[in-house]
Amino acid sequence: MKLKNKIAIVTGGNLGIGEAIAREFAREGAQLIILGRNIDRGTNVCNNLSSEFGVKAEFFQTDFNDSKAIIKTMEEITKKYTKIDILVNNAGIATSGTVETLDEEQWDEIFRVNVKAPYLISKYIIPVMRENGSGSIINIGSSAGLVGAWGLHAYSATKGAIIQLTKSMAAEYAKENIRVNALCPGATATPLMDNVDQEFIKMIPMQRMANPMEMAKGAVFLASSDSSYMTGSNLVIDGGFTAV
Ligand SMILES: NC(=O)c1ccc[n+]([C@@H]2O[C@H](COP(=O)([O-])OP(=O)(O)OC[C@H]3O[C@@H](n4cnc5c(N)ncnc54)[C@H](OP(=O)(O)O)[C@@H]3O)[C@@H](O)[C@H]2O)c1
Repeated sequence: MKLKNKIAIVTGGNLGIGEAIAREFAREGAQLIILGRNIDRGTNVCNNLSSEFGVKAEFFQTDFNDSKAIIKTMEEITKKYTKIDILVNNAGIATSGTVETLDEEQWDEIFRVNVKAPYLISKYIIPVMRENGSGSIINIGSSAGLVGAWGLHAYSATKGAIIQLTKSMAAEYAKENIRVNALCPGATATPLMDNVDQEFIKMIPMQRMANPMEMAKGAVFLASSDSSYMTGSNLVIDGGFTAV
């Protein structure tokens, strides 16, 4: 098992890509701390991981649109867990609209959830990783952070920001054995993509969406010692979308 005795935080681990990452981490022996808003889904996922893989898993309810709530949760987590090996900043929202139609509050909300929350959570977890001598942080970007996205300008801007944040954080913490990488999914079959336009799928060279598990396998690679010399990198898993 690649993550035996590791403790991992997965934000948004109660649904979609985050849930798949939590599952693959548990399969590899990791203990899970999952953050999200929906308690029922969070508790169910944790119970399922514990019964299926025999690992401990705990859910913390937090709204990433509220900095005070994040800080309260991070204080609670860092008091309880003195060892955290892996942080996956996965939770995210995609708000559509053009520059003219998206209102200012929607712009602020998407930046709070997709960019500010990963920054704030990292701020609390890096000292714990430093104390333990190592860590791996994985920020979930998007192919939309590498190229523009019609009708998703704010989302695309947040994902561009998280990719750049990853590179700077990697440089800042490399000497302390804390690696920071981004994983950039392309279109992946989750509730976020429920209303995807089939014409969009035809633009993907592989002509299909990914299964969330195909992202989770990449996250296991970035979390484990298999990627021990990798930091500041961007693992793109997008069926060839940004290759052409
Ligand atoms: N699916 C794709 O095609 C795709 C492609 C590229 C990148 N991504 C990225 O991959 C990540 C996961 O996406 P997904 O497709 O799995 O999305 P999803 O199925 O919609 O799940 C989103 C997750 O984020 C959590 N979340 C959303 N808003 C939150 C908030 N305000 N506070 C706390 N948690 C919140 C949700 O938990 P609650 O519901 O409990 O709040 C849920 O667990 C995102 O960063 C997304 O941008 C996805």
